[in-house]
Amino acid sequence: MAIKHIFVIGAGTMGNGIAQTAAVSGYQVTMMDVTDEFVQRGKTTIAKSVEKLAEKGRITAEQKQAALNIAPVTDISGVAKADLVIEAATENPDIKFKLFQDLDAIARPETVLASNTSSISLTKLAAATQRPDKVVGMHFFNPVPLMSLIEIVRGLGTSDATVALAREVGVQMGKTPVIVKDSPGFVSNRVLCPMINEAVYALEEGVSDAEGIDTVMKLGMAHPMGPLTLADLIGLDVVLYVMEVLHRDLGDSKYRPAPLLRRMVDAGYLGRKSGKGFYEYK
Ligand code: 3HC
Repeated sequence: MAIKHIFVIGAGTMGNGIAQTAAVSGYQVTMMDVTDEFVQRGKTTIAKSVEKLAEKGRITAEQKQAALNIAPVTDISGVAKADLVIEAATENPDIKFKLFQDLDAIARPETVLASNTSSISLTKLAAATQRPDKVVGMHFFNPVPLMSLIEIVRGLGTSDATVALAREVGVQMGKTPVIVKDSPGFVSNRVLCPMINEAVYALEEGVSDAEGIDTVMKLGMAHPMGPLTLADLIGLDVVLYVMEVLHRDLGDSKYRPAPLLRRMVDAGYLGRKSGKGFYEYK
């Protein structure tokens, strides 16, 4: 089936980045969130991003306009007209399971339901629907317009045709797809989050301060940002949640979350989005 219309659920950091990238890549895009304020905030972020990218000549005026034309909505009834749904709602299992049930009831039978989840089992999400063969993970990376990877996550019942379709859309969106099995944290977060968690342990034990730890990883390992700066970008709550999933689902104590990470989340120090994490943000 040719994909023309993509319905993105969630206008937060990941949702608006996915919507923008899809629109710039030639898809007709609808972006949904639960309140008008959230969708409009997402639209404002997109407008700033495409302004920057157009100024730098990385997108054309037509592509910029396509992103500005994204249709903002606050309910999911429009899913009935979509060829592909990409869900990027809050990383909360209860919300996602309910959403997938609702999407399954509204979307056309042939419509593929994709999730950007970073840690929830695709197989479980698929089991909430009557179309497990048409449920797939499309895991994007923050900031979506700049990061060129997409993990395509194959649940136990995902069909080859669905994987192929997600892959094709990923390529059309300018991303390099890597197909991974549905396993806790997939590849990306299984490798990345324990590294960040270890950096938090090193900080807690006073091996160095935050700047020292980040500088070691930036200059010594050529990472574009240090692990603590990256944790602030991703959100400390998200990192903690992924560590909890790895710890619980893989059952190995090596994944135990650093106590300092937990305390910072308890304190509301979530990184950039809350204005304070390992660093302070205006
Ligand atoms: N749209 C448009 N432009 C953007 C942008 C966006 N969304 N985000 C950043 N930029 C711009 C900046 O404004 C800056 O523009 P300027 O040069 O005109 O000031 C330019 O991009 C370059 O940014 P920076 O100068 O801040 O620095 P970098 O060269 O380091 O690039 C980066 C930024 C691409 C984010 C780079 O630091 C990087 O690759 N960092 C690692 C990111 C990463 O690992 N992401 C994955 C997170 S894990 C994840 O998402 C999975 C989840 O499941 C947890």
